[in-house]
Amino acid sequence: MADSLVPAISIRNLTKVYPIPFKRERVVAVRNLSLHVEPGQVYGLLGPNGSGKSTTMKIILGLVSPTEGTTTIFGRDSSEVESREQVGFLPENPYFYKFLTGEETLFFYGKICGLRGAKLRERTRELLALVGLEGARDRRLGGYSKGMLQRIGLAQALVQEPRLLVLDEPTAGVDPAGSREIRDLILNFKTRGITVMLCSHLLEQVQEICDRIGILHQGKLVREGRLEELISIENQTELILENASPDLLRQIGALVSGSDAKLIAQHQPQRTLERFFLEVTGKEK
Ligand SMILES: Nc1ncnc2c1ncn2[C@@H]1O[C@H](COP(=O)(O)OP(=O)(O)OP(=O)(O)O)[C@@H](O)[C@H]1O
Ligand SMILES: [Mg+2]
Repeated sequence: MADSLVPAISIRNLTKVYPIPFKRERVVAVRNLSLHVEPGQVYGLLGPNGSGKSTTMKIILGLVSPTEGTTTIFGRDSSEVESREQVGFLPENPYFYKFLTGEETLFFYGKICGLRGAKLRERTRELLALVGLEGARDRRLGGYSKGMLQRIGLAQALVQEPRLLVLDEPTAGVDPAGSREIRDLILNFKTRGITVMLCSHLLEQVQEICDRIGILHQGKLVREGRLEELISIENQTELILENASPDLLRQIGALVSGSDAKLIAQHQPQRTLERFFLEVTGKEK
């Protein structure tokens, strides 16, 4: 199969059951889940707390073994170590060595990925600039804010120039301006052809960046598809006019009332709360 036709992620009939130690109970975290992520897509895996998103991600990355089913990354089974060669991962609660500086942290991960010497220094410089942490390169992570830690986590995930990024709540605990920057970074990854799978509870941002989404509920995939198709209201049409005169609006109203269509709403469009917040706090670009 040509490389571009191999799904970046393929999940087939995946089920994960966690036993509860010392009890006869068990938790079914994922139930018979099947989905595919095409290369170059930004895929949003959504769902309420406890719906199985992180479990699914950990199984894709081979960190948790499935009870049933298979997952592959660019055609390689997740159980093969090689499947992770081209993957960057930002876990839900990343753990970092607090006594290392931002730069030392990236040196550390770069070395794990086999980088050395000038190449390692160059990659570290590049990544610190990309995530906007050049000014904090010599500060220890113990003194980093939550948003800075998420950024160093993203930089760490990018060290080996992955083809696939798996991001478990990349904007958790980050303020609106910071999470916007992370959103822009993700869009930047997309333009570079990197496939992204992410989980997030910030649905407004998901809407802005994802091509496709899947919604999990109690471990089951309840909806899946192209975002635009899922959220469009099929039998309605929105017209947004600029500088429409009252007379033009009257004429449109008359046309509509003489037809089978019904005018449901006529109002001025609103900016989102996020945009408004950023405008008044001076962070709007
Ligand atoms: N290691 C584990 N042992 C036992 N149960 C687990 C384990 N990890 C997850 N679970 C259970 O599996 C279910 C799914 O958890 P998971 O962390 O995948 O959800 P999530 O969708 O990522 O939730 P959140 O939005 O809160 O991060 C939950 O009921 C959780 O308690
Ligand atoms: Mg989770």
